[in-house]
Amino acid sequence: MADTKIYAASTTAPVNIAVIKYWGKRDAKLNLPTNSSLSVTLSQDNLRTHTTAACSALFTEDTLTLNGELQDVSGARQQACFRELRALRAALESADSSLPKLSTLSLKIVSENNFPTAAGLASSAAGFAALVRAIADLYQLPQNPTELSRIARQGSGSACRSLFGGYVSWEQGTLEDGSDSLALEVAPASHWPQMRAAILVVSAAKKGVSSTAGMQATVVTSALFPHRVKIVVPQRMKAMKRAIEKRDFEEFAALTMADSNSFHAVCLDTSPPIFYLNDVSRSCIRVVDEINRLAGKNVAAYTFDAGPNAVIYYLEENEDIVLGSLKGGLDGVSGWKQDVTAAGVEGLDASFLEPLKEGITRVIMTRVGGGPVSVEASLIDVDGQRSSA
Ligand code: DP6
Repeated sequence: MADTKIYAASTTAPVNIAVIKYWGKRDAKLNLPTNSSLSVTLSQDNLRTHTTAACSALFTEDTLTLNGELQDVSGARQQACFRELRALRAALESADSSLPKLSTLSLKIVSENNFPTAAGLASSAAGFAALVRAIADLYQLPQNPTELSRIARQGSGSACRSLFGGYVSWEQGTLEDGSDSLALEVAPASHWPQMRAAILVVSAAKKGVSSTAGMQATVVTSALFPHRVKIVVPQRMKAMKRAIEKRDFEEFAALTMADSNSFHAVCLDTSPPIFYLNDVSRSCIRVVDEINRLAGKNVAAYTFDAGPNAVIYYLEENEDIVLGSLKGGLDGVSGWKQDVTAAGVEGLDASFLEPLKEGITRVIMTRVGGGPVSVEASLIDVDGQRSSA
């Protein structure tokens, strides 16, 4: 009788927000970057993708369902991940003939995010990291997170950094085949657990240019870009690793804000120009700058990805000063910590906070967190059907 068993494994994976940005590909097919990057992994309590990967002779084709909707898996990115993981499993199977031939079976992947897609948060990093880890667990692959990062990178560049918790670099590598373009742990979350992040979700009237398309255009047209890639980022990568090692928030903040600005500057220098920041984003920049000026040191650091949402990093010890200052602009907004009673920094003019009141639709209060976790909870039931965890 044919084997109708359903093999399954489940994983959760985190979101990461870069403090030194990945922007530009030197090889679009292999998804190799023009520069190294560095990110902070955020807690899965607030933001995570939960994925179950299953395979069985009962399944007739590879499928992926995200938040209840069937996704297209025919794209090169998904196909690259499936192909690479199957090849690793096939190598195990040919070395040990007692292993079931999972590499020959169709895959059924079911994924769910614990945050609303409408928030406009980049979920591809957590999504591909969870997909790769869940399939690697299903196939019982011995590869470590850095080895798996080579595969996740081909799904989405930033996804390679979500295979680790804490502070993570993606080293661009030099080899043409991309085998040295990998994620490494700079420091675990436990090295600097006091790092907090407030994500200010800004309502955007329409969706902007995708990262993939935007960065290609920057590489081709921006005259500023070569300077960023050759000079600015390599220096900042070194300085950022030092700042994290020394837990030097002042330096961490200065580098984070400078690199966000540099990234948005090369976007503006692209032809046609790419605008990810809007007036509300710029108001967030101004209020963080003012808080830091009045505090006499960097107590908060803003950074923006390919969209208008602000991510503000700060240390737990400065929570009163940072959240107390933002309170006037965010009170009553969904997700805001309603119990903030601190007055915040002295002398902050209320006019800095007015634009936030209008433009922020939701706040996510989170912190540095750990990497992917294998979990029991399955999104696929014993009959191979989608189930809710
Ligand atoms: C601005 O990883 O989404 O968030 O590799 O084309 O999928 P692809 O791009 P993606 O780009 C992320 C860009 C960024 C910066 C960063 O996360 O480093």
